[in-house]
Amino acid sequence: MKRTLTVIILVVILAAVAFAQTGVKKKRPLPFEYGRVVINNYSEKAGLAPVVFDHWLHRTKFTCRVCHVDVGFAMKSGATEIKAADNISGYYCGACHNNRTVADGKKVFEACSKTASAEEKTRCLRCHSLGKKVKPEYDFGNFAGRLPKGRFGNGIDWEKAEEEGLVKPVDFLEGVSIKRPALAVQKDFALGAKLEGMPDIIFSHKKHTVWNSCEVCHPEIFIGVQKGATKYSMIEIFNGKYCGVCHTSVAFPLTDCQRCHIKPTQ
Ligand code: HEC
Ligand code: HEC
Ligand code: HEC
Ligand code: HEC
Ligand code: HEC
Ligand code: HEC
Repeated sequence: MKRTLTVIILVVILAAVAFAQTGVKKKRPLPFEYGRVVINNYSEKAGLAPVVFDHWLHRTKFTCRVCHVDVGFAMKSGATEIKAADNISGYYCGACHNNRTVADGKKVFEACSKTASAEEKTRCLRCHSLGKKVKPEYDFGNFAGRLPKGRFGNGIDWEKAEEEGLVKPVDFLEGVSIKRPALAVQKDFALGAKLEGMPDIIFSHKKHTVWNSCEVCHPEIFIGVQKGATKYSMIEIFNGKYCGVCHTSVAFPLTDCQRCHIKPTQ
């Protein structure tokens, strides 16, 4: 009883801290919006609508590693500073969106061009779509309906979807990725929650490696020399560091305490 109370109090405190540190109470994104990145360093200045990128669609097709290591997107919205010229030369979005790369048996539509005929403008609109009425080809509702349910985020249990083979993200992009020998996967381990009544965290290297492979986390997010060497606190995680790099915006969010704090105390 006392323990349950401690945990409840903590949830309230942590939520308040997260609120105080961001300053604004952000509206919780709807399932289809979770993992959405709006990119607008240059679009509006060039007279086009900002670009909308959805993780839910892309992560069903490719691992995080393909994009965040091989293609080289930053894990922070807007930080890559993608230009139309990069896309045209086959970098960034243009690494796939070039009308040559084949995924799921069809050529992926091209990204930017220098000029666009009236006909081509509908293609521009597929990405430069913020605030425009564009009907996407992939419907989130149809898609999510076929996958195991999750409580938060996209409302999808991605882990289970992958385990059951319902999504099979590819870890290789022809012409961009380099074949490398797979590294031995580390054992799962527990991280102490350092607080009485708060269940410890189980971290699975195996499950994370499926999506991320080693290079997404090491050495940038975790030095990874020795578990326990870096101390992280829940507040830092809420602020988007360590586990929070992914578990605030793309992987299941921090509101799902029990998915990490899983190991019963004692
Ligand atoms: C098809 C490519 C692609 C795939 C696959 C992909 N990402 Fe991303 N990701 C991006 C792009 C593009 C951005 C935005 C970068 C920018 O704006 O500079 C991004 C941004 C992010 C961000 C920052 C979000 C924010 O709101 O600041 C995180 C975190 C992230 N990705 C994690 C992941 C994880 C985890 C996976 C795997 C489950 C993944 N990504 C798979 C392309 C991808
Ligand atoms: C690793 C490959 C890859 C990269 C990189 C990539 N995409 Fe895609 N994207 C795809 C594939 C494959 C599809 C599905 C295309 C199809 O079926 O016609 C897709 C589809 C889309 C769609 C169509 C959604 C719909 O329902 O109509 C949009 C919009 C999109 N991508 C935006 C982007 C943007 C913006 C970037 C760069 C910031 C990007 N993508 C980078 C592979 C990629
Ligand atoms: C696959 C997605 C995608 C498609 C399709 C696409 N773009 Fe882009 N485009 C981007 C991204 C991402 C950026 C960077 C957005 C930003 O930072 O504002 C961009 C930026 C631009 C810019 C900003 C100025 C600059 O020099 O970078 C122009 C102009 C542009 N695109 C033109 C076009 C035109 C014209 C079309 C249609 C023929 C088109 N784009 C289709 C993804 C796309
Ligand atoms: C999602 C992020 C993530 C991925 C992916 C990941 N690791 Fe780790 N790794 C961690 C964390 C967290 C630790 C704990 C140490 C720390 O905090 O830096 C760790 C620790 C380690 C350690 C030290 C282990 C110990 O017993 O002290 C090694 C070695 C390691 N990782 C290797 C790998 C290899 C090899 C891969 C790919 C097969 C990989 N990691 C993938 C997050 C990750
Ligand atoms: C993505 C995984 C994850 C989620 C989700 C998560 N935590 Fe944590 N939590 C951690 C990690 C990792 C630590 C640090 C453990 C360490 O360094 O030994 C931690 C530490 C803590 C601690 C110990 C004291 C502190 O501040 O560091 C408390 C209390 C805590 N979490 C509460 C919560 C609550 C309440 C929620 C839900 C609102 C939550 N956590 C959600 C991973 C998570
Ligand atoms: C590079 C991005 C990234 C980082 C960093 C990361 N995760 Fe994850 N994690 C994922 C993705 C992607 C999944 C797949 C499920 C999803 O997307 O919701 C996942 C799944 C999980 C799961 C469910 C799978 C399982 O093991 O049962 C747990 C628990 C988890 N993460 C805990 C953590 C903890 C604790 C940390 C920090 C020590 C951490 N994660 C850091 C991306 C990340």
